Amino acid sequence: MKITVFGAGYVGLVISTCFADLGNTVLGYDIDKEKIENLQKGILPIYEPGLKELVERNIRENRLSFTSDEKKAVRDSDIIFLCVGTPPRADGSAELKYIFSTAETIGKHTNGYKLVIDKSTVPVNTARQIKEKILQNQAQKTDVDVVSNPEFLREGQAIRDFMNPDRVIIGVDSEKAKQLMMQLYRPIERTGKPILFTTIQSAELIKHASNAMLATRISFMNELSHLCEKVGADIKEVAKGMGLDNRIGPRFLQAGAGYGGSCFPKDLQSLAATMKEHGIQSKILDAVHEVNESQKHSIIQKLKTLVPDLKDKKIAIWGLAFKPKTDDIREAPSIVLISHLLNEGAKITAFDPVASENIKSHFNNHTSLEFRNTPYEAIKDCHALVIMTEWDEFRALDLQAIKTILAEPNILDARNLYEPSEIRALGFNYKGIGR
Ligand code: UDX
Repeated sequence: MKITVFGAGYVGLVISTCFADLGNTVLGYDIDKEKIENLQKGILPIYEPGLKELVERNIRENRLSFTSDEKKAVRDSDIIFLCVGTPPRADGSAELKYIFSTAETIGKHTNGYKLVIDKSTVPVNTARQIKEKILQNQAQKTDVDVVSNPEFLREGQAIRDFMNPDRVIIGVDSEKAKQLMMQLYRPIERTGKPILFTTIQSAELIKHASNAMLATRISFMNELSHLCEKVGADIKEVAKGMGLDNRIGPRFLQAGAGYGGSCFPKDLQSLAATMKEHGIQSKILDAVHEVNESQKHSIIQKLKTLVPDLKDKKIAIWGLAFKPKTDDIREAPSIVLISHLLNEGAKITAFDPVASENIKSHFNNHTSLEFRNTPYEAIKDCHALVIMTEWDEFRALDLQAIKTILAEPNILDARNLYEPSEIRALGFNYKGIGR
C-alpha cells in the first residue's frame, strides 16, 4: 500500500519505518526542511534502538523516502497518517493547531479519496473536527474518512511495540475505512494480536485512559512507598505480592523517582482538561499528578538524609533520561533534582549513556554541571551517588570499586536497582525508595 506519514517526530518516524518494513511504500513528510534533508542522508533526530538501521535499510530498498513538499505528500498516497505534535497548553489542554493545519493542507491538495488516520494523541472528538477542516478546505470535493488509531509505543522499545503490540485500537465510522485498516494491519493481525474496532470517540478515549491508568498505578505505588519506609515493609516485595494477583498483574508497579516522558504527564493533564470542559472535576487524575510531582521533589529530601548540607558538595548522578534506552529528557525527574542541587550550590558530575547532551543544553552549559564518559568517572570524589534512571549497565558494576572511588559511600538509589541488605553489608549508606 502507498502511505504518507505527516510528522517525522518520534511516532511518525517509527510508524513510517515500520510500515515500510512490512512492505508498504511510505513517504514521510515534515515541515522542518533540515530534518527531512538529514533523514534523506540517514541522520535521525532521535535515538531509538534499532531504528537507524531500519531507516537505512528501507531507504536503500526504496520503500521509504522523505519529503518537505506538502502537495506531493498529500497527492502521492490515499492513506495518510497524522503523527504531528499535540503539546500541552498552559492550562493542560492539548494544542491542536498542528493537527488542524495539517488537516487544512490535506484538504487543499486532495486529489481523490483519502483515508486519514490520526495517530497523534488528541482529546476525544478531535477526529470529527479534523474531518470538518479537511472538507472545508477541499478545492476538489472528494470523499474523506478520518479514523482514530492511537499509538501505544514505548520509547526504547518502539519497534518491538509496533511489530508486537498488545492490541491495535481502531475507531472507525465507515465500512470502507474499516476494510482499508484491516488490510493495513493484516501483517500484525497474522501474528495473533487483537485488532479492536470501536467508535471513533472510544478509540480516542482509550489512549488517554490507558496512559492515565498506568500513571495512576505508578503514583499509587510511589505513595505507598512512603508508608513502607515508616512501617518496615519493602515496596518491591509488596509490588511482587500484588502483581501475582492476575487481576492486578506485575507491570507498572515500580516505585521510583516519579514518571516523566512525553506522554504520561501530558496525557493526564489533557484528559483532566477534557473532563473539566464537560463539567467533571477528576479528583483521581489531580491526585495522580500531585503525587508524581511530590515524588520527584522527595528525592532531594532523601538525599539530604545522606548529605545534610549540599553546598559545595560533589554529587554524582547516574541516568538523566526519563527512563532507560532513550535520550528523551522531557519531564525527567533528573531535571527536578539537578535544579534543586544547583540552587543549593552543589557540584554535579553526571553520566548517562545517551542523554547527557540534552541535559547539558537544557541547563545552558551550567558550570556546576559536568558530564563524564563512564559511571566510574562520574563518581570520582563525590559525596553521594544518586541513581535516577535504571539503565541495565548500572546493575552489575563493581561495588567495591565504587566504594573506593566515592569520597563518601553514600548511595541514593531512586530506581531500586540494588538489594539494600547486600549493599549495606559492603559498608554503603544506602537509601532506596520504599525499602
Ligand atoms: C508511555 C506508554 O507506556 C505508551 O504506551 C504510550 O504510547 C506513551 O507513553 P513511554 O512514555 O515511552 O510510554 O514510557 P513508559 O515505559 O510507559 O514509562 C513512563 C514513565 O513511567 C517513565 O518515567 C518510567 O520511569 C515510569 N515508570 C514506569 C515508573 O516509574 N514505574 C513503573 O513501574 C513503570
